[in-house]
Amino acid sequence: MQDTNWNRQLWDGGYDWAAEGEEWSVGWGGSEPQWFGAIYPRLHRALPASSILEIAPGMGRWTKFLLPLCRNYVGVDISLECVHGCQKKFADAHHARFVQNDGYSLSEVEDHAFDLVFSFDSLVHAEFDVFKNYIPQIIQKLNKGGIAFLHHSNMGALGTAFANTAGADARAISVSRQNIEDLVVESGGRVIIQEVIDWGPGKIPLDCLTMLAKGSGTTGPVHLYNLRFMEESQIIKQFQAPYSGIDRLS
Ligand SMILES: C[S@@+](CC[C@H](N)C(=O)[O-])C[C@H]1O[C@@H](n2cnc3c(N)ncnc32)[C@H](O)[C@@H]1O
Repeated sequence: MQDTNWNRQLWDGGYDWAAEGEEWSVGWGGSEPQWFGAIYPRLHRALPASSILEIAPGMGRWTKFLLPLCRNYVGVDISLECVHGCQKKFADAHHARFVQNDGYSLSEVEDHAFDLVFSFDSLVHAEFDVFKNYIPQIIQKLNKGGIAFLHHSNMGALGTAFANTAGADARAISVSRQNIEDLVVESGGRVIIQEVIDWGPGKIPLDCLTMLAKGSGTTGPVHLYNLRFMEESQIIKQFQAPYSGIDRLS
């Protein structure tokens, strides 16, 4: 079980951040094709946004795409090394601020202020206690019409037998699509879409993307079961990533 101390110790001093997270985008051919091919198509209705809260930006692999799409940005990360790294890297972005937290609290962030709360490839290692704290606060941070897009583990639906499978990579064992949906509803929010996805080899539904909003809605949640997320990454790498190399000024 990867608790918050494990996350803090690993990401704040225990990890070599030289590649700034690009190493996790190799399967998509880089962070640019991964953003435009895999993340942006799922999020495009929410962008641009006037205000974005990113939870766990790390060294800003997604922040660099989010910043030009908003007028106000806050990044909250448990790792001071990452907060300092982003402050340096995005020093020219005067609409952005980066703050360290304890892994549970969003108290440094304004309420009812964000159109989009975003987290990708970070909270897969966060156990359910983290979401029990974060989800009600995320709902409180959203403004009317705002949405959150959260990437989290689905290992809780699979059981510990899958914990050592390739790709499981320290995924949280207490989190599932279902218990996140229940928590969102208990916290006064609603799930718009949940997409269970495979991660790593073997088409195992290790992860889930949850899009949520505050308050009740008239339409029920859409549940997608996608064991072709990794296949999608291969198509993106093969047929979209080459376009990232084009320099239109040359
Ligand atoms: C694998 S890195 C990914 C960073 C970035 N999202 C990316 O995709 O490149 C995980 C990040 O999550 C942060 N983190 C882990 N648990 C957290 C928590 N409970 N609250 C805030 N940040 C957390 C770590 O400090 C680290 O920056």
